[in-house]
Amino acid sequence: MSDETGRPPKPPARPDSVSLWRYLRLFRADILSAQPARLYRAWMAEFRTPFFRSYMVNDPALVDLVLKGRPDDFPKSDRIGAGLRPLLGESVFLTNGETWKRQRRIIDPAFEGGRLKDTFPAMWAAGEAAVERLAARATGRPVEIEAETSHAAADVIFRTLFSIPIENEIAAEVFDRFRTHQREQPILNLAAFVPGPRWMPRFFSRRAKATARDIRRLIVRLTDERAAEIAAGTAPDDLATKIMTTADPVTGERFTPSEMVDQVAIFFLAGHETSASALGWALWLVARYPEWQERAAAEAATLEPSFATLARLRVTRDIWREALRLYPPVPMMVRETTRAETFRGRAAPEGAQVVLSPWHLHRHTRLWDAPDDFDPGRWQTENGRRCQREAYMPFSAGPRVCTGAGFAMAEGVLLLAMILRAYRLEVVPERTPRPVAHLTVRSADGIWLRLTPR
Ligand code: HEM
Repeated sequence: MSDETGRPPKPPARPDSVSLWRYLRLFRADILSAQPARLYRAWMAEFRTPFFRSYMVNDPALVDLVLKGRPDDFPKSDRIGAGLRPLLGESVFLTNGETWKRQRRIIDPAFEGGRLKDTFPAMWAAGEAAVERLAARATGRPVEIEAETSHAAADVIFRTLFSIPIENEIAAEVFDRFRTHQREQPILNLAAFVPGPRWMPRFFSRRAKATARDIRRLIVRLTDERAAEIAAGTAPDDLATKIMTTADPVTGERFTPSEMVDQVAIFFLAGHETSASALGWALWLVARYPEWQERAAAEAATLEPSFATLARLRVTRDIWREALRLYPPVPMMVRETTRAETFRGRAAPEGAQVVLSPWHLHRHTRLWDAPDDFDPGRWQTENGRRCQREAYMPFSAGPRVCTGAGFAMAEGVLLLAMILRAYRLEVVPERTPRPVAHLTVRSADGIWLRLTPR
């Protein structure tokens, strides 16, 4: 897919007009290739169907309006929640209004700059463990790297949140059940974009509900144990303790045990799937463009086990940013209008879906220089800097921005550097990855690389 052009793989677009039913079929297969090429140059696109209307907005000013200008007028749609609620309950990812605001007031302090620094040793330990695990795979034979990056990202979450490594019995089980759950939940994207009949998400998720119950039961064990440790004064100083002991500055309330279970579930889901996906793509990209790999490896030679080391990894950070641009783990986000709106002179009714698409915005042909090229150097150019402000949102933006954005920037750059310090990566030419969007942007048949020790 990439190699005739020298560019990284991009899914083929569908023809400009197809029937609704064909669209729905394409959609089920993959939302990325279900879209027409014109979305890469459009400021807005309206989809009218008998069941719903949706507006994809790519105009930076409109994106700004929805995410930053009047975010309260564009809440998350309930329908996305329907598919996720069995697992995530009333987690911050799904709630709106006052409940959501209160949850953010309790969660956000745990992820602020100062606290982030405190998570560094746990991230470093997870990086060392990942490098060690890869040693057995660094034989020059093809390795499916997404399985490895998932493992590493899950390890980062358990270590930073609960001070336990992935080898811990409960951690390993949660990780395993999450994988099963994801296989049972293929309908998520469809449910989000095609509001259609309200029964649809429920219809598809009976088995997913069972795995969700299992996962939550395991998380309850972790949070109960932690509550007891907090009460006894023996709790480790990690993200879970921080969140469970923080009182809302406005109401003075803390999370109830069941609310904490909801939040832990979203930290695992939002925190490990996304980082794993981005790290998989970043590793493939440096393997495909070895001149960047060598520059990053040279930089990684300066690594030290302290938070300050991250600021020096400039090339690696630009590579990580570029991977998040080309393969944003969350390719699209959906909001709903709560009143009639006018978008670029067109009337949008109340209850319409507003689709924000990092995937399209990041490759917009009217905004970016060489949008489909892999060029980490762009971040140091004027176009790159302007686009970073106006047309780059791998973590969304505004008050509902990803709580883990700073965390993920630190984690991604660190793991990339630690892996490139230890190994040389090469692509497997007959196994070029093919991007498809499931819960996150993944490769249809995994991401295959050859690793050898440096
Ligand atoms: C490369 C890694 C990551 C990417 C690309 C990413 C991306 C995103 C995006 C785009 C959203 C907004 C979704 C929407 O509004 O529909 C989001 C929300 C969220 N993310 Fe992340 N994320 C990453 C890592 C993390 C990590 C490591 C954590 C936590 C440890 C995390 C926790 C959350 C939470 C709790 C929300 C919900 C925020 C809210 O709705 O108020 N994410 N993330």
